[in-house]
Amino acid sequence: LASIEVDVASLEPGMSLTVKWRGKPIFIRNRTPEEVKAAADVPLGDLKDPVARNANLPADAQATGVDRSGGEGKENWIVMIGTCTHLGCVPLGQAGEYNGWFCPCHGSVYDTAGRIRKGPAPENLAIPTFSFVSDTKIKIG
Ligand code: FES
Repeated sequence: LASIEVDVASLEPGMSLTVKWRGKPIFIRNRTPEEVKAAADVPLGDLKDPVARNANLPADAQATGVDRSGGEGKENWIVMIGTCTHLGCVPLGQAGEYNGWFCPCHGSVYDTAGRIRKGPAPENLAIPTFSFVSDTKIKIG
């Protein structure tokens, strides 16, 4: 199936963009160091869904800050399918109690790594297959 390449050169830390891939919104965010740290500091035992849900990793990979990100050295990057794992609404960015994402439909709260922390959603926001084809270009799919 079709993959897309997204130029992220203009995304400074703290900036996001949303692209469409296979009919779904894909959230891409260049996280600030504070956001990266906030996610990394959360004990896995505090997570409602401790699984990474990262299509680039084994199915049992844990939802650590780095395994939810672009990986070692690219921890600032977040790439996620932007549909709430409850009933599929599109969450709002940099909102909610953890300053991550907040779903206005029924109040699910995701943290700065897109992990579900409160509300009815059962799983972390899904991470699609993606890779960096250069420092400033991400291939999704
Ligand atoms: Fe997001 Fe229900 S669809 S909380």
